[in-house]
Amino acid sequence: MPKNVIVLGTQWGDEGKGKVADLLTKQAAIVVRSQGGNNAGHTLVAGDKKIVVRLVPSGILHSSCLCLIGSGVVVNPDALFGEIAELKAAGITDAEQRIKVSAGAALLLPIHPAIDKGAEKKRGKNAIGTTGRGIGPCYEDKVARRGVRVGDLAYPEILKEKLRNLMDYRNFLLKNYYAEPEISFDEVYNHLLEIAPRLLAMTADVSAILAEARSVGKKVLFEGAQGTFLDIDYGTYPYVTSSNTVAGGCCTGSGAGPLHMDYVLGIAKAYTTRVGGGPFPTELNDDIGEGIRQRGAEFGAVTGRPRRTGWYDAVAMRRAAAINSLSGLALMKLDVLDGMDELKICTAYKLKDGTISQLPPLAAYEYADVEPVYETMPGWKESTFGITEFTKLPANAQNYVRRLEELSGVKVAILSTGPERNQTIFLDDPFA
Ligand code: GDP
Ligand code: IMO
Ligand code: MG
Repeated sequence: MPKNVIVLGTQWGDEGKGKVADLLTKQAAIVVRSQGGNNAGHTLVAGDKKIVVRLVPSGILHSSCLCLIGSGVVVNPDALFGEIAELKAAGITDAEQRIKVSAGAALLLPIHPAIDKGAEKKRGKNAIGTTGRGIGPCYEDKVARRGVRVGDLAYPEILKEKLRNLMDYRNFLLKNYYAEPEISFDEVYNHLLEIAPRLLAMTADVSAILAEARSVGKKVLFEGAQGTFLDIDYGTYPYVTSSNTVAGGCCTGSGAGPLHMDYVLGIAKAYTTRVGGGPFPTELNDDIGEGIRQRGAEFGAVTGRPRRTGWYDAVAMRRAAAINSLSGLALMKLDVLDGMDELKICTAYKLKDGTISQLPPLAAYEYADVEPVYETMPGWKESTFGITEFTKLPANAQNYVRRLEELSGVKVAILSTGPERNQTIFLDDPFA
C-alpha cells in the first residue's frame, strides 16, 4: 500500500496541485514542501472558504495534519508569518504549531527580491517574468555557499558574519551593477534577531520525521511547487524557476530516500497555461485562448497576472511522464472546456527541416523552430461542472480524456470538474 505519494505539476505550474494535495491530505498524516518558496500559489477551496497558500503546505486545512517545510525550500520568514496570520483570520488557529521548518532551509532575505527585480529590469525584453519574490537570487546564494540558513538564527555571531558577507556582495551588485538603492545591513540583522525565537521554535529535523513516519507506516504527501517545464534542469531554460520541480527534487529537498517514494501523481490541466515569458508551442493568442482564460479564471494566484492559455500538449507530457516516473495523472479543469466546438491536442512537434519529434527540445531557443502537430476531436455542449462519475460525462468528454491518456502514456487517476473538493471523479486512489 503506497505510503509516500508525490503530487507535482507536469506543465508550467498552476495545474491545480493545491486542490489535489488538499483532497489527498484527508488520508495523509504529513504534507511536505521540498522546493520553491512563496513564488508558489496553491488554491484551496473548502465550502465557502477559499485560501491561497504560498509557503505553507496544502495540508494545513486538515486539523490533524503535520506540515513540513524541507531544506530545499527558500523561506521568507515575513511571508511565512504573514500566511500564518491569514490562516488564523480564516479560523485555522493552530497553523503555527503544525508547521515545522528544516533548519537547513535557505533564508530568503529582503535583498533577494531587490536583486530579482534589478535583474529582471536588466534583462529588458528577455525578462523571465519572475514572480519578483527573490527566489532565484536566494537559490544563487545557497549554491554559491554564501547563503544564510534558518538554523543560523540560533547563532547570532555566526549569523552576523554570514549575513555581512552575503550583503556586502549583494549590495555591491545592487549599487554598481543594477543601479538600485542598497539595503541596510543593520535593519536586516536586527529584524532577523527579532524574529529568530519565533522561527526557531518552528524548526525540526524534517528528514528524521519522515524516516520515523515511514517506519511506522504513516501516509505522507510530498507537494511539488511550480511544474516540470519550470524545472531548472529540464524546463525551458532560462525561462524557468531556480529549483528542481521534478520528482527527484522531492527527495533532495525533503531528505526522504528515493526508494521510499511509492506513487507519483502528475497534475495537468485538460489544456495548458503558462505565466511569465518563455516558449509555449500550443499557445492560443485568439478568442479561443481568451475564452479558456475567462472560463478557467486563469489569472495568477500570487501576482494576479493573466495566464497564457493553449491546447493540451502530449509531447511535453511524454517528457514529464518519463522524468517524473509518473504512476498516474490528475487531469484538472475539464469543465473549462465545456461548450467548445472542437478541441485540439498536440501530438508531435514538427521541426524546421520537416523532422517530426515526439519529445520536446531542451533549450528555450530551440523552440523557435518547433511547430505543433495537432489532432482534432469534437467538443461537447453539455456541462461537466461538478460531475462525480466518469460514465456521467458526455461521450465526447470521455473520449477526450481517454485519448489524452493514450497519447501521454499515463492513466488518469483523478479527474477534476470544478474547484471544490467534491467536484472530482476518482478512478484510482494513489494511497491505496
Ligand atoms: P496550483 O498552483 O497548481 O495549486 O494551482 P492554482 O491554485 O494556482 O490554480 C488552479 C486554479 O484552478 C485555482 O483557482 C483552483 O481553485 C482552480 N481549479 C482547480 N481544479 C479545478 C477544476 O477542476 N475546475 C475549475 N473550474 N477550477 C479548478
Ligand atoms: P505554483 O506552485 C506558475 C514562474 C514565473 C516565471 C518563472 C520564474 O503555483 O504552480 P520565479 O519567481 O520562480 O523565479 O519565476 O516561473 N513561476 C510560476 N508559474 N506557477 C507557479 O507556482 C510559479 N512559480 C514560478 O511566472 O515565469
Ligand atoms: Mg499556483
